[in-house]
Amino acid sequence: MTDLLLLPGDGIGPEVTRQARRVAEVVAPDLAIEERLFGGCSYDEHGLPLTEETLAAAKAAKAVLMGAVGGQKWAGAPRDKRPEAGLLNLRAGMEVFANLRPALCFEALADASSLKRELVQGLDFMIVRELTGGIYFGSPRFIEELPEGGKRAVDTQVYTTAEIERVARVAFELARGRRNKVHSAEKSNVMDSGLLWREVVTDLHKREYADVELEHILADNAAMQIVKNPKQFDVMVTDNLFGDILSDAAAQLTGSLGMLPSAALGAPGKPGLYEPIHGSAPDIAGQNLANPLAAILSLEMALRWSLDRAEAADKVYAAVVRALEGGARTRDLGGALTTEQMGEAVLAAL
Ligand code: NAI
Ligand code: MG
Repeated sequence: MTDLLLLPGDGIGPEVTRQARRVAEVVAPDLAIEERLFGGCSYDEHGLPLTEETLAAAKAAKAVLMGAVGGQKWAGAPRDKRPEAGLLNLRAGMEVFANLRPALCFEALADASSLKRELVQGLDFMIVRELTGGIYFGSPRFIEELPEGGKRAVDTQVYTTAEIERVARVAFELARGRRNKVHSAEKSNVMDSGLLWREVVTDLHKREYADVELEHILADNAAMQIVKNPKQFDVMVTDNLFGDILSDAAAQLTGSLGMLPSAALGAPGKPGLYEPIHGSAPDIAGQNLANPLAAILSLEMALRWSLDRAEAADKVYAAVVRALEGGARTRDLGGALTTEQMGEAVLAAL
């Protein structure tokens, strides 16, 4: 039985996941690790970005660690066979509906933030983005020609009570292990789906999580507050579209894309999907230049949330902090270490 399924993927994916694997082999040597093709490399080999066997392996593992997929090479593939389609199918097939995106400020990198040091120093907040519903999936959805000329495009936002409740539950549970505060962001002033969102979150809070502090915030105000005073936040739960945007904004508070991990969780007991938020970075792929810390921190989240190895996770986190404090920097952080050397700096700190 596989504990950790690695899907290195394309571009820098294999380079950064290799370093995460080395770290895993040190902090949790007994983990059963398996690797499979996924994304463009799977399309080249099997004609599909995600084969049935790989999806079955993902569902049977305790955690899946993905690198990144995609690249120009596959831009001409049929839409449903592109690497990105493989990723959507993997998320849907694993039923991972809650996307956890931490915005963390490492002390050693506080001066690299686009905000003033005092605004981000010690920052540690988590966005929980609904991942499998909302406007990216709702129907009807089409573009049509209008008889009078021009076109009309339609996307539809759909949320059910059950979809809102299960993601809100993840946020409340997380907050209990943190600073006990949840912000729920929507646009209940102008959207019915926002009204239902607020109603369901309020109701769940009253029924089961009254011990957690809950604040409702309009999503546009949330965007403003994220850049104005991000440290007021502990956990923020929001829908798929707002979460996509707000989490990208929050991510940039703390510096490089190469630092940021993410988790996608499903029902309790089901495997989680862990991945750096960056893509396959074709511009630097194959050059040993990528920062592997996002992948290593994604492993850290997998150890914590799916593999029941909180102690090993703590060790990985502390080792990353120590490596950064010791001055370890890849090019994206203004340094000169290679991907492999950054991996070695973390291993040395372990
Ligand atoms: P990207 O994240 O791959 O790259 C954006 C910029 O950040 C590039 O300059 C890249 O060199 C840099 N960068 C990214 N990760 C880095 C790391 N670990 N260390 C140092 N620098 C890093 O986004 P882009 O260029 O928009 O997309 C490239 C490909 O990746 C596309 O095919 C896209 O579809 C795919 N992609 C895949 C994702 C996934 O697998 N989850 C997510 C985002 C994009
Ligand atoms: Mg995005």
